[in-house]
Amino acid sequence: MVLFDTHCHLNDPSFAQDAEAAYGRMLEAEVAHCAVIGYDLDSSRAAVAFAAVHPGSCAAVGIHPEHAQGYDTQMDEIEALLRRPEVRAVGEIGLDYHWETNPAREIQADACIAQMELACRYDLPACFHVRDSHADMLALMKANRKYLSGGIMHCFSGSWETAQEYLKLGYHISFAGPVTFKNARKLTVAAQRVPLDRLLIETDSPYMAPEPVRGGRNEPANVRFICAKIAELRGISTEEVARATTENARKLFRI
Ligand code: NI
Repeated sequence: MVLFDTHCHLNDPSFAQDAEAAYGRMLEAEVAHCAVIGYDLDSSRAAVAFAAVHPGSCAAVGIHPEHAQGYDTQMDEIEALLRRPEVRAVGEIGLDYHWETNPAREIQADACIAQMELACRYDLPACFHVRDSHADMLALMKANRKYLSGGIMHCFSGSWETAQEYLKLGYHISFAGPVTFKNARKLTVAAQRVPLDRLLIETDSPYMAPEPVRGGRNEPANVRFICAKIAELRGISTEEVARATTENARKLFRI
């Protein structure tokens, strides 16, 4: 079995002491690949530096909506990072309306569109973070169809109806820890119905640790629990979910 964690943050300060060890545990757990995702300029640089010396990993660079304030002064450097061979996606970008202290919605939208344009220009997939904002995200995507370059709805949190909208726009749907949680009924339906060739799995580590390790610091090795849960929900083997999701991720990230 070969697994691919399509969204982790081994570049996060919480891995400052032991990213190497976490990467080792990942390889031991049959997770041959991970995508290390940036969320601001520093973490994007760190993602590229990590991917440059860990052949099982690749990087995404971008400005997360929570960090969108002042994004325009950072686009030149994000673009420079995009030219690095380790970089296989733009992200994470998107809209996050969860916290009142987040940047104004217009700024988040501007940052998102600017980075979708970059992804399109460099022919890279984009990795989307969408929290409490699916309606606006879909409207933004439909209004900017010329910048749609495919990519990933990361840590998908919506209904099957919402998932279908993203699928129609060409995106893949990626499931993280919440699909393993006991109260995940709405997500369960989406995880059963997303076509196998559009399905991805991820940890979003250090966040979102899945059952049975919920509550602790998450790490890429735990993507096996997401794989097993989705297999159980769909009534197919874990090997089948592993094969499909890894193939999808390799195609998307061109690995
Ligand atoms: Ni993330």
